[in-house]
Amino acid sequence: MKAQTIVAAAAALFGITAKATFSGTGFGTWYYDLEESEICGYDVSSLNNGNALCGWYTARTLEQVGSEYLVAMNDTQLKEDLTGYCGMQVIVTVNGVTSDLPFFIGDGCQRCSEGSPDATTYSESGAPGLDFSYPALNALSGGEACDDGYIEISWEITDNKIYDLFDA
Ligand SMILES: *[C@@H]1O[C@H](CO)[C@@H](O)[C@H](O)[C@H]1NC(C)=O
Repeated sequence: MKAQTIVAAAAALFGITAKATFSGTGFGTWYYDLEESEICGYDVSSLNNGNALCGWYTARTLEQVGSEYLVAMNDTQLKEDLTGYCGMQVIVTVNGVTSDLPFFIGDGCQRCSEGSPDATTYSESGAPGLDFSYPALNALSGGEACDDGYIEISWEITDNKIYDLFDA
């Protein structure tokens, strides 16, 4: 057997089918909460009723999706390949600890699309990263989501589709 065949066979045997389609480092922020309408002193009720970009045809709002694991990514990048990213699992690492929370791509994040993709300092007007629900960012940060409003993260978007109720 050729080396590639052996690797493919091993991957199939152990059920490893996901490969990273995009990975990066940057900043995690929060933008919605399905339980509370006010977070860290901000009214988020209109955001909860906002359409998730991945539900472009059926116009699914964040509330209709109903999962606090929905994550927003670089808006421009997502629009370039909706079918490639929507519903795909995202593996998030904070301070060297990889989270086992089942995050998936569902929306676009404006801040994550602007500024340098290599930026190492956070700016509200543009910095690479992902945007989460408040409970998710709180879980990732050990309860510090309100303190700075952002945390340093790295991530890997896989081709493992774990949410399939979007339009693609
Ligand atoms: C967002 O994605 C676009 C398209 O791939 C890219 O040109 C841009 O640099 C990205 N922005 C950030 C902050 O990563």
